[in-house]
Amino acid sequence: MLVKEPDRGVHGETPGGRLVIVSNRLPVMISKGKTSGWDVSPGTGGLVTALAPILRDRGGIWIGWPGSPGVDAVELDHLLRSGGAQAGYELKPVALSRREVSGYYRGFSNEILWPLFHDLQTRCNMDPDNWWAYQEANRRFAAEVVECSGPSDTIWIHDYHLLLVGSYLRAMGVERKTNFFLHTPFPSPDIFMKLPWRDRLVRAMLDYDLIGFQTQRDRSHFIRCVRVLARDVAVRGRGRVVTVPWAGRGGKVGVFPVSIDFDFFAETATSDEVSDAAWFLHESLPDRQIVLSVDRLDYTKGIPNRLEAIRAALHRHPEMIGKVTFVQVVVPSRRNIPEYEELKTEIEGLVGEINGEFTRSGWVPIHYLFRSLTTRELVAYYRASEIMLVTPLKDGMNLVAKEYCAADIDEAGALILSEFAGAAAQMKRGALLVNPYDRNGVADAIHRAFVMDRRERRSRMKQLRRSIRTHDVFWWVDSFLECAAGRKLDAFPSRDTLPGDEPAVMGESPLIPG
Ligand code: UDP
Ligand code: G6P
Repeated sequence: MLVKEPDRGVHGETPGGRLVIVSNRLPVMISKGKTSGWDVSPGTGGLVTALAPILRDRGGIWIGWPGSPGVDAVELDHLLRSGGAQAGYELKPVALSRREVSGYYRGFSNEILWPLFHDLQTRCNMDPDNWWAYQEANRRFAAEVVECSGPSDTIWIHDYHLLLVGSYLRAMGVERKTNFFLHTPFPSPDIFMKLPWRDRLVRAMLDYDLIGFQTQRDRSHFIRCVRVLARDVAVRGRGRVVTVPWAGRGGKVGVFPVSIDFDFFAETATSDEVSDAAWFLHESLPDRQIVLSVDRLDYTKGIPNRLEAIRAALHRHPEMIGKVTFVQVVVPSRRNIPEYEELKTEIEGLVGEINGEFTRSGWVPIHYLFRSLTTRELVAYYRASEIMLVTPLKDGMNLVAKEYCAADIDEAGALILSEFAGAAAQMKRGALLVNPYDRNGVADAIHRAFVMDRRERRSRMKQLRRSIRTHDVFWWVDSFLECAAGRKLDAFPSRDTLPGDEPAVMGESPLIPG
């Protein structure tokens, strides 16, 4: 099984033909085998987790990069055909050359847009050569969409790698509607204005017929950038979706918080295999609460800050010594970018230091895993852990937080969540919200979760699970595609905003479901 989602019944139909998903990455990654040939493995990250069950449900095509400069076309076709047959939909590769990988993927996408969109502009490497590579690669993705899709298909393009594809599709004479969803945050104008190519990017984004953001705050940032950079474009309406008429069309911009396949995680958590694995994990750590963190290796996840908070927690609350085990899973990611390698070294240094400081006979405070887990292993860790510690410095959504709650079928766990994760808008009542930069604040939240009584944990977790069950990934896709098809959406219950949210666009009420 290459793609990690279950068989499901068919949910809503895709209006008008097949669903064509376009993202930088396919849900499978092809890499050189250790001994010979090619290895095919599931992709990691929230985008793949969210979209894989949807395409499996509805069928369709996924266009993207298989992550393998060097594999020859015939071999690639063979590998993807069998991968696609197992997954239940077609996989269409966009084979990138080494030069494109360097300029478009590593350079512009991951060394400029990724840090900028996570408010870390000092990490940006604004090399102008990368801009050309980005345009060229976006044009190639657009050409592939023209090649692989028909007039009745619904085209849905994803994430910061492909901001220009809609614009190229227009230039290629494609009349069909094109839709886009940004999985990352969108920065405030103060930060976005640092980008040398800001005007071109914002104008190009307006060529999409529907743009979806994770939170009201991201959408509000984008609208403010449009107001500054495209003064001739008016923003009309209020509510969950506003219109931005441009070049004779009425583009829409809305808020669609991405989610997970709740039932899959809950059902997997009840399976005998996972229950046994969770029992064994805990059996080896008797009389301890497990505090779990799971992150891709990424500086946006705030792992060093979190490790310092763990150190502070053990100093400030010594009664936790010997009574908690921190499990930090780091999933390898973007290994060819030097900053990611430096981060790995920093994390491993800190883990070593903290373990060196606190370990005593029979107790090691931090268990560190640097590898990908299978879905069952991951869910077993979720089930075995009393506390989930999710403290990104900034995150589009953070699906790990939602998966933990879905898998907590006993409703006995506590979630500590960064207020700068998109998920905080929806989960702020049930979770203990923290500022990941506030070391002592996070340390005290860990202690608060450690001493929280069963009743409070249950009541918080019930609330969290109810919200995620209702607003699962199928709710997300249905509402996005309904909106794309021109139908009016129900308003969100107007309750939650993110800390630091801008006032709602055009005076509408807060937009995130509770
Ligand atoms: N995940 C994974 N492999 C692992 C551990 C986790 O693919 O070994 C998945 C996890 O289930 C989640 C995703 O990676 O769905 C991470 O998504 P999230 O939104 O939390 O962060 P992102 O990696 O997209 O920044
Ligand atoms: C985040 C991004 C995705 C990306 C994933 C993994 O979730 O939003 O678009 O696919 O990270 O990163 P990678 O660079 O390996 O594709």
